[in-house]
Amino acid sequence: MDILRITGGSRLHGEISISGAKNAALPILCAGLLTADTVTLTNVPELNDIATTLKLLGQMGVRCTRETDGTVHITANDVSTLEAPYELVKTMRASILVLGPLLARFGQARVSLPGGCAIGQRPVDQHIHGLAALGADISIEHGFVVARAQRLKGAVIRTDMVTVTGTENLLMAAVLAEGQTILENAAREPEVVDLAELLIKMGAQIQGHGTDRIVIEGVKSLHGATHRVIPDRIEAGSFLCAVGAAGGDITLRKVAPDTMGATLSKLQEAGLTLTCGPDWIRASMTQRPKPVDFRTHEYPGFATDMQAQLMALNALADGTSVIAETIFENRYMHVQELLRLGARIDIDGHTAVVRGVTKLSGATVMATDLRASASLVIAGLAAEGQTIVERIYHLDRGYERMEHKLRQLGANIERISSKDLS
Ligand code: UD1
Repeated sequence: MDILRITGGSRLHGEISISGAKNAALPILCAGLLTADTVTLTNVPELNDIATTLKLLGQMGVRCTRETDGTVHITANDVSTLEAPYELVKTMRASILVLGPLLARFGQARVSLPGGCAIGQRPVDQHIHGLAALGADISIEHGFVVARAQRLKGAVIRTDMVTVTGTENLLMAAVLAEGQTILENAAREPEVVDLAELLIKMGAQIQGHGTDRIVIEGVKSLHGATHRVIPDRIEAGSFLCAVGAAGGDITLRKVAPDTMGATLSKLQEAGLTLTCGPDWIRASMTQRPKPVDFRTHEYPGFATDMQAQLMALNALADGTSVIAETIFENRYMHVQELLRLGARIDIDGHTAVVRGVTKLSGATVMATDLRASASLVIAGLAAEGQTIVERIYHLDRGYERMEHKLRQLGANIERISSKDLS
């Protein structure tokens, strides 16, 4: 297993490009199952989660080709297996996103239940209830969700809570259902909007995406399309937290600031100076961070996927911040590791109280999940001395060449391959 070695203390300067959004690309790749024609996607990031999705689709008989510039072609004209096996689903919960499209186009699907997950229980009951409301016959057999339907029938579906992949799964199922489907309490995340935009290009009839009420008129079939994946707002926010913690002046290119409102306003509150254009953000930080209180919330609120990274910034703030995590019940695993770097953080249920310290000191820490890894890297960039981040396979699931981009900004960070570790 590779590790990252960071020597903290370098201010960040320069420019980098932000990659395509992982959480938009994953459902969009699965949408390729909805047609026999080729779907061509550009700006697909090179990440382990994307590789897992391509492997999953490949196992089903879908032809997936990837070019070096981030273009991916998906052709599902010869699908042989309507199944997502446990071995792949357990490494990536988003594999559940094949359930809706398989059922809608082929009338059956067998998808392993994801099982436990480091950041909380994360059930998929809303996906299942929604598909049942569309007329699917669903059972749980030997750890698999087994779903069958002749042709799905439109329905009004109100999920108990806002669920991002739940909305996406139901959207992909409803586009081929007979008649009208209304998704109430739908997720408004930009990644859901991006999926809807692709589906519309493929011939789907969708209105209201980006609001909590999506109306879909089912069509008989969809056709091929070409689509560019939106920029990754979480990757962009993570680099902004990095310059917030380490200080400096950086410019992010190929970003979508209009999808980052809550993050940008909290970072300004923390003392960053931000200037934005339509597809760029310049951020400079010349002072010690100010403390910022925040609660995670569904979009357009503050993203749970940014909580750990902003906490790293708060750890160095001139004062105390109060954080409330409202989406996932077990998403403070980075705290134990931040404590090893000298942070002062107390957890009480969903609330974290962060008492800012003047300096963190480098140590060996262990990444526990994707965003926790980013938080530890950010803290390491600001810490005195050397920080080793272990288990960075979590980071590789969702950040494209993070250490290269940080080095481009002047950070002292290197990946050490497990082969070279003795
Ligand atoms: C997606 C994102 C993830 C992000 C999360 C919240 C992808 C691939 N992943 O995950 O990065 O952290 O949104 O913004 O897009 N829930 C249920 N039953 C369900 C579905 C969800 O109880 O059937 C609960 C979850 O346990 C959680 C909450 O609803 O407490 C929101 O989860 P959800 O939006 O579904 O997260 P994901 O779509 O898995």
